[in-house]
Amino acid sequence: MGQIKFITDFEDKFYLNKKIFVRVDFNVKVQDNRVSEDFRIRSAIPTIEYLSKRGARVILGSHLDRPKGRDYRYSLRPVSLKLEEILSSFNTKVKFAEDCAGTDTKRMVDSMENGEVLLLENLRFYPEEEKNDLQFCQALASYADVYVNDAFSTSHRKHSSTYGVAKFFDTRIAGFNLAQELQYLSLLREKPANPFTLVIGGVKIKDKIGALDHLLPKADKVLIGGAASYTFLKAKGHSVGQSIIEEDYLPWVTKALQDHSDKIILPLDHKVATSENSDHYQVVQSEIPKDMRGFDIGDKTIQKFSYEIHNNGLGTIFWNGPMGYFEKEVFSNGTKSVAVSMALAFWRGVKTLIGGGDTLEAMKVSGVSEKEVTHVSTGGGATLRFLAGDEMPGIDILKSN
Ligand code: ADP
Ligand code: 3PG
Ligand code: MG
Repeated sequence: MGQIKFITDFEDKFYLNKKIFVRVDFNVKVQDNRVSEDFRIRSAIPTIEYLSKRGARVILGSHLDRPKGRDYRYSLRPVSLKLEEILSSFNTKVKFAEDCAGTDTKRMVDSMENGEVLLLENLRFYPEEEKNDLQFCQALASYADVYVNDAFSTSHRKHSSTYGVAKFFDTRIAGFNLAQELQYLSLLREKPANPFTLVIGGVKIKDKIGALDHLLPKADKVLIGGAASYTFLKAKGHSVGQSIIEEDYLPWVTKALQDHSDKIILPLDHKVATSENSDHYQVVQSEIPKDMRGFDIGDKTIQKFSYEIHNNGLGTIFWNGPMGYFEKEVFSNGTKSVAVSMALAFWRGVKTLIGGGDTLEAMKVSGVSEKEVTHVSTGGGATLRFLAGDEMPGIDILKSN
């Protein structure tokens, strides 16, 4: 396997007159036909702007959500409006192709001028996208001379636009955002500066096991909150009532507790209620009553976790997964406290990294800005897979130029 080529590995004049297919991940939140959260769009702007300024014709391909066929609730049109709004300040024209394939789209591509940006409609309107279909790959490849992947967050997918299409190009390049993700996440995966603290929460232990297997041995401390903590507490013999448990992963959790007993710190108290809709909660210490479910960490735990984050020293902290059912105000304290502690650690000089779609949302809800974190990954599943050392087809294909 060769080396990944980056945008700045090529001279400016290389890009002039070139048609460039850029796989971006504009899988963002859309509400009432408007983009309500544009982090991923902003993260792709450096690449789009750089190419456009150098006289390239930039063809953007993305998916949005998981539509079954052509379903306009998942149209990228609202994204094109947002993109236009952002790029208008750079005097860059944005056009929208109502289809990602077909003769009309090809015509639009062929009539593009240097510096123009064309966003294609949702690639997943065609089932061929997810099937890595050869003809579909060929159709997409016919638009351009050069392939750029700037969609780290979807690089764990072996789809037409992330994988198959790249094979048709002699020149495959990693965009700025992908390069930045690789830089920070590779360091985290291989050699995080110690002391290294892991803060893990959220729901699905299943999705996190690979990353935990890889990172636990490197970590000095592991703080576990959120729904994930109840499987750990159960494995230790505590009563967890009706809290979310992943029975299938009890053996793995038991082993992790044995191997890393000195590092793993579990909640000391909990905010519990009979259901997520209940406004009545109570705080319990180590044992959760039979008819109750844990929805947030309690104050003692908040204090303990904040103390550990504040006393990490100038190393690394990685946070994935909210500490509770933060979508509801009464259960958001644990998550908000961790977010603020992370920001304070950053200001003190700690390398802080945050990953996960819901964690990013939680960070925002907590009033912490992306500027108060060393690196906020655009990825959810992709980040965890990468940290686990799993295959990343969208990245691997860039290495085989
Ligand atoms: P991420 O997307 O950041 O990787 P996850 O998807 O693993 O995070 O988990 C996020 C979800 O976990 C949130 O919707 C949050 O409400 C939920 N959650 C966290 N703790 C609890 C809990 N104790 N009970 C119910 N849901 C929880
Ligand atoms: C994500 O949101 O994690 C990426 O856009 C990938 O989406 P997917 O899980 O639907 O493939
Ligand atoms: Mg999630």
